[in-house]
Amino acid sequence: METDKRLSQAHAIAETRDRKTQFYDSWSKLFDQDMLSDGYSGPSMAADAVAGLYPGDRENVHILDIAAGTGFVGEQLAKHGFVKVDALDPSQGMLDKAKAKGVYQTLICSYFDEKKLDIAPDTYDVIVICGGCANMHLPCDCLWEVLRLVKPGGYFVMVTRPFHLDTVEEYNGRFEPLMDEIEKEGKWKNIRKEVVPGYHRDYEGIVFVYQIK
Ligand SMILES: C[S@@+](CC[C@H](N)C(=O)[O-])C[C@H]1O[C@@H](n2cnc3c(N)ncnc32)[C@H](O)[C@@H]1O
Repeated sequence: METDKRLSQAHAIAETRDRKTQFYDSWSKLFDQDMLSDGYSGPSMAADAVAGLYPGDRENVHILDIAAGTGFVGEQLAKHGFVKVDALDPSQGMLDKAKAKGVYQTLICSYFDEKKLDIAPDTYDVIVICGGCANMHLPCDCLWEVLRLVKPGGYFVMVTRPFHLDTVEEYNGRFEPLMDEIEKEGKWKNIRKEVVPGYHRDYEGIVFVYQIK
């Protein structure tokens, strides 16, 4: 099935991360169709997790959606009443689709990694990531940039498949230990880590929520 081929390609090792981005550029036209026909609930899980943190006024909550892709998370956040939402993704093709949905204020075409972005420290109340962990996707060290960009008292929400954290070389034995290490250093506090069914197809997901100190 063509959808399966594209999903495998998204998850596979690529020669370079730019190659992976070119793949996403080419997939952008069919991404929504492929994922919607396939029961992709990750974005609503991520947005529900963010909404649970802000039961009251949501209009002033400044959110950065990293690895935003075509904007599924932004669409779900909009349904919850969040309006100050920015998107970041290295694939211009994916971002063009996201822009057309009208749910983001600023769209940033960039990788998210250990390098500092041209964004002031403590800019965001929330960084949310859904589906950003796979081969040649987000590196572990991007967590330092999360800590720099989120205000004290703000949140980091990440939803992914535990499968990727266990099987991708970049993450296996590194990603979760780094999250724990950051907590031991007193830089954030875990407030949720939950394996949930039905993330995508019949694959389970894992929801992480940290509060920045
Ligand atoms: C599976 S899509 C998920 C998109 C969206 N969050 C969703 O759940 O529908 C993965 C996205 O991660 C982006 N990505 C890959 N590496 C990245 C990096 N280092 N920094 C930011 N985004 C990255 C890709 O361009 C792609 O749009």
